[in-house]
Parts: sequence; structure tokens; C-alpha cells
Amino acid sequence: NHVVLAYSGGLDTSAIIPWLKEHYRCKVTAFVADVGQGEDELIGVEEKALASGASDCYVVDLKDQLVDQVIKPYLKTAAVYEGQYLLGTALARPVIAQAQVELALKLGADAVAHGCTGKGNDQVRFESTYAALAPQLSVIAPWREWQLRSRQELLDYLAERNIPCSASATKIYSRDANLWHISHEGGELEDPWCEPSEQVWTWSQSPEQAPDKAAYVSLSFNAGEVSALDGQPCDTLSAITTLNSLAAEHSVGRIDIVENRLVGMKSRGCYETPAGTVLVKALQGLESLVLDRTSLRYREQIGQDFAQLLYDGRWFTPLREALVAAADSLAKNMTGEVVVKLYKGQATVTQRRSPHSLYSNAFATFDEDNVYQQSDAAGFIRLYSLSSRIRALHQQQAGGN
Ligand code: ARG
Ligand code: SIN
Repeated sequence: NHVVLAYSGGLDTSAIIPWLKEHYRCKVTAFVADVGQGEDELIGVEEKALASGASDCYVVDLKDQLVDQVIKPYLKTAAVYEGQYLLGTALARPVIAQAQVELALKLGADAVAHGCTGKGNDQVRFESTYAALAPQLSVIAPWREWQLRSRQELLDYLAERNIPCSASATKIYSRDANLWHISHEGGELEDPWCEPSEQVWTWSQSPEQAPDKAAYVSLSFNAGEVSALDGQPCDTLSAITTLNSLAAEHSVGRIDIVENRLVGMKSRGCYETPAGTVLVKALQGLESLVLDRTSLRYREQIGQDFAQLLYDGRWFTPLREALVAAADSLAKNMTGEVVVKLYKGQATVTQRRSPHSLYSNAFATFDEDNVYQQSDAAGFIRLYSLSSRIRALHQQQAGGN
């Protein structure tokens, strides 16, 4: 028996290693996904895995994959979950689970395991990916099986086995980070009436501390993909890196949300997505110039569907391919430049231009114009409201009898 575990180096997955060995009499390989969560979590992670009893540990750099396979198409769909959430945790899961499955198949393992609880969305996202890519693998979710309930019990479990662990019993928040976002849940946040204290936030400054002077950033796009930042050519990953620090300094990208989980319950979380917030705003500025009304409405529909699909862990489905194809097509004209102003938590589009702009001052102006004949509007409105006119006449006749 050989299990490949999605390992983070945190307390939960550290306890899972000995637990798997004891309960399944298996060899455990630790798989660590580098999705841009940062050095803090990655330094020494192999040693930690081995100290917990893993036979081996693979750290796989998935940053480019996350950006190219998920974030780029994501940006073309403008997906936002329940009006606020830029899906930071959800969009990394398919990439992580896919790489985990690939490692399991390469090593000839017969099972995969993860450290998600039985109450959340993440278990569904991991396991839907396993099911789509390697249905023959067994799935082990220790949180749904074991009796361990608190951090202290996990620490005791490790101590009883003489496994060194530097985690503390009093870590307040559950956090999940990658190059796109960081999420914070638990602690005082479990009370939706409680304002998050400043120690919740780890990436961004508070609006109160943010500079009094606004920053402006110019972003160029080519068919819906970032091509330059402040005039310097760049790819999406480097734009995200640059914008994350700039926008976080100006407190941009914080949300505080009560959301509906896929499993039915509500949960409260605070998320920071500085670069993502700026990019989504900038693309909205661009689409407002180049998409006609029905195309824009359709793009919004795709965004809603895509948000739900990502949230619900349905990445490896024919629907995702169809939505991405439609979003790609609508993004063809999304070429141009947008300037976004960052100021005390707000990201505001102040300038936008595009070679495909449908905006025409000659049409929109209140001054004299010879393209749009105002007298044409009279006939248009008569036909446009014809059914209302017929209904009203009908009601008048009925009332007269
Ligand atoms: N509620 C958010 C989501 O479902 C964030 C989840 C954070 N996950 C975690 N393992 N800490 O996408
Ligand atoms: C978890 O329960 O493992 C994290 C939260 C979530 O998946 O929604």
C-alpha cells in the first residue's frame, strides 16, 4: 500500500502522516504543491515531512501552471462568486489535485489523501479532480475518519509518537495562500457580528495606514491577457507579483464575506486578493469600451456560471471547456490600455482606450451630430413599445364595456 498525501507542512497534514501509516499500514509519500504560498511555508518542508514519517517528499512548482491553465482563462470570464469572492482558494485546487494524481500514477501508488475537513468545499474540489482524472485511485480523507478534534489533540498525537512539531496550540486563524490570494477563517471571524481585527489581515495595509497619496497603474491587455504594466511588457505572473505589493500597500483587495458553501452551510471569511482585484477592475474598464450590450450581458452570464463551476470543483468537465471557449471568443477584442487608481482600499478605473473601442464621441455627444438622427428614435420607440400600446388599448376597451 502506498498513499500520496497532499502535504502542506502544517499541523493537520503532519499528523496525517503517522495516522495513515498506523491505520492503513502504508507507505506515505508527501506531495507539496508550490502555488506561490511563499517561502515561509516551503522552507524546510521536506525535512518536516520526513520527520513526520513520510518515505519521501516531492515539492512541485505549479505557479506557471496555475497562471496559464487557470488564472488566464479565469480573467477572461470575469468570474466573481456571490458578488465578492475572486475564488482564490478554489482556483488552485484543480491544479494541485491534478499534479498530486500525476505523482501518484508515476509512483504506482494506489491511494491519494488530503487534509481537508469534512465540512468544507475543498474536500469536494480535491476529490472531484481525483474522480475525473484517476477514478481507480482510493481516496482517504482522515478528517472524516479520525477522532482527533482540536489542535491540542493533534499536538498530543504527535508528541506521543515523538514526532517533533513547532506548531502552537493557539494558532487562531485557518489560512490558505497562493500567488493569487490569502484566505482567513476561524477565530473571532466565526461571529459574523464581529469586525475582523487588524491581525486577521496579513498581506495588505489597513486603509487607515495606506498612503494619503493615490497610486496610478497602467495595464495593457491583448485579447484579454495582460501584456504590459506601466508600459513595460510583462506576463500575467509578473503582473500579479508587482500588483500584489502595490495594491496591498493601498489596502486594495480586502473582502469580508459570509458565503454559501457547496455543502450547504454558510461560512464567514476574510480574503485578500490585491492583484486580482486590480486586474478584474481593469478588464471591466476595457470590456465597457469594446463589448456591445448583448455581448457584455453574455460575458456576465459566463462569469456567473464559471464562478459556480470553480467554486464547486467542476474544473475537469466539458462545461468548463465550453465556457472557456466562449469567454475566449468574447475576449478577442479586449485589447487596449486601462489606468487604475489605487487609493485607501479602492481601485477605480480612471482612463481606458482600445483600438476596438465602440465608444464614439460623435454618437454620444449632446452637441449637433449627423450620424444619429434623433427623429429615428420616434419610430423605434413606437415599435419597441407596440405590445404595451396594444395591451393598454385592449384594457381600455374592456373597461368601456
Ligand atoms: N471559503 C473559501 C473557499 O471555499 C476559502 C477556503 C479556504 N480553505 C482552506 N483550506 N483554508 O474557497
Ligand atoms: C476545510 O474545511 O478544509 C477548509 C474550508 C473549506 O474547504 O471550505
